[in-house]
Amino acid sequence: MKELILVTGGTGYIGSHTVVELIEAGYQVVIVDNLSNSEAKVVDGIEKITGVRPPLEVCDCSDFDAFKTVFDKYHTISAAIHFAASKAVGESVEKPLDYYRNNLLSLINMLKLLSANNGKGFVFSSSCTVYGQPDVLPVTEQAPIKPAMSPYGNTKQICEEIIRDATHAGLSFKSIILRYFNPIGAHPSAEIGELPLGVPQNLIPYVTQTAAGIRAKLKIFGNDYNTPDGSCVRDYINVVDLAKAHVIAVKRLIEAKSSDKIETFNLGTGRGLSVLEIVKSFEKATGVKLNYEIVGRREGDIEQVWANPDYANQVLGWKATSTVEETLLSAWRWQEKLATR
Ligand code: UFG
Repeated sequence: MKELILVTGGTGYIGSHTVVELIEAGYQVVIVDNLSNSEAKVVDGIEKITGVRPPLEVCDCSDFDAFKTVFDKYHTISAAIHFAASKAVGESVEKPLDYYRNNLLSLINMLKLLSANNGKGFVFSSSCTVYGQPDVLPVTEQAPIKPAMSPYGNTKQICEEIIRDATHAGLSFKSIILRYFNPIGAHPSAEIGELPLGVPQNLIPYVTQTAAGIRAKLKIFGNDYNTPDGSCVRDYINVVDLAKAHVIAVKRLIEAKSSDKIETFNLGTGRGLSVLEIVKSFEKATGVKLNYEIVGRREGDIEQVWANPDYANQVLGWKATSTVEETLLSAWRWQEKLATR
């Protein structure tokens, strides 16, 4: 019998790509999403790619009773991947209470319900934001956690602590915490991708919307940083590569491959790229010229961060393999597809 995996936030950006990889790896999936930042028709894209239509339970994980009905309905859930969370850094500064309420309550409910239902494994979506501006680059999992720069970042730190404390107190399952660097790109089929609501806050959707003529000009936030070309440096990781790491993590938990109750992995490429390098790579990969200007720094931006992914490479046997050009091309194909929807 196929193992059943619960994916919260499964119609979201990283969630939908992970659902596809789980199905293709032979798992059965149930999606839970409140559709606050995604659309139900994402499931159509998942079905087109995989030939399987996973059930979508429209439910808010912060509502314990509603979330419990999902566990009651699918009582054989083996493991859960918890993507569902509010994730906009700027918005979290304006609405901190909403962010703490949603992100913390959803996780607490998830841990209670998964444990009560004897789940075997839990995968948590965390972020390299927990490292702040690291003192040593590339950053390893041992780097100190720095004071959070935003309520959003703080929710990720607190959620990691909640998982540690609850594990110590006794949960039915082991957990894997995945710290993502900057996920970009879309599925190569262009059936699923990132769906930013309103004006994009992240670099790549802003780049593709500018290339498509939806935005007049990309604003590059600062060229006076202490980096080779003065613009900020990040570790941009292909979203499908990232999704595949979740499948490995789930398998590791279900098959109890580690005796550790919690494992934490950086998911990045190990390569830092500047904003200007991304612009050049996008133009090269797509042949589309990008209109951009250099403006002042964005408040709260970290100068440079990229991963040391050795631990994930060795222990999970996982590696990000896509080139940045193919990843940017996939983002562009998805943008072109969006115009026809
Ligand atoms: N940038 C621009 N112009 C834009 C948008 C972004 O120049 O219009 C620059 C930013 O200044 C930054 C880089 O592009 O240097 C990447 O910015 P993103 O907003 O795409 O990503 P961030 O690294 O700022 O944020 C990401 C996630 C957050 C997470 C954070 C941790 O989106 O959820 O990494 O560092 F908290």
